[in-house]
Amino acid sequence: MHFHILTLFPEMVMEGLDTSITGRAMKNGHITVNAVNIRDFAENKHGHVDDYPYGGGAGMVMQPGPVYRAYEYVRNAVNERQMQGANCLEGSGEIKRPRVIYMTPQGKVFNQTLAKEFAEEEDLIFLCGHYEGIDERVLEMIVTDHLSIGDYVLTGGELPAMVVIDAVSRLVPGVLNNDISAEFETFHNNLLEYPQYTRPEEFMGKKVPDVLLSGHHKNIETWRMEQSVKRTKERRPDLLENG
Ligand code: ADE
Repeated sequence: MHFHILTLFPEMVMEGLDTSITGRAMKNGHITVNAVNIRDFAENKHGHVDDYPYGGGAGMVMQPGPVYRAYEYVRNAVNERQMQGANCLEGSGEIKRPRVIYMTPQGKVFNQTLAKEFAEEEDLIFLCGHYEGIDERVLEMIVTDHLSIGDYVLTGGELPAMVVIDAVSRLVPGVLNNDISAEFETFHNNLLEYPQYTRPEEFMGKKVPDVLLSGHHKNIETWRMEQSVKRTKERRPDLLENG
């Protein structure tokens, strides 16, 4: 799976994703992450990519030109790879246009169902805005999905893009050591995960539930299911209503 990020802060994204499980997935070749600096496509020698908003108002707006050219650059690279390789749909020579996901608090709120949907794609392009946003014209031209990570406003789209890339990566086959764990964790069947325990058997007077030490697999499974339902009712009743 190939992630492309159009951003003014490529180091932020690369440093964040180059650690832990996503870092290992990059080294193993299960995913690639390619952060493209929009500033490299500036129209002027100063590298300015933003300007005052028409009609007045606070803040600066990212100009359409640099964003469009950064997008074209990524799109051409994706096309070339598709032409050379396996993804060129047999015989037709057809090229699949990658989804372009604009990270914005005005988008659809990201969730595990969307993570699964995105994990089916071969390429995903993320567009990260800064300042007061991006000129609407280029958004109309290239964006396929407007995506938010929650109802709060961050300073830019980089952290949201990293959140989405992390959640999608762990669903890519081979990224987690154990594919089963990707499926059975929190949100499987719209239920929160049951509580987990490890050694020691007793910690500061608190004991591990007896059933988990019993070796009785059926009882353990039942207990875990009960715990999942109880926890979901207490913490996220909305998941049961929407399920
Ligand atoms: N950019 C700023 N805030 C955001 C949010 N909550 N989700 C996605 N992108 C954003």
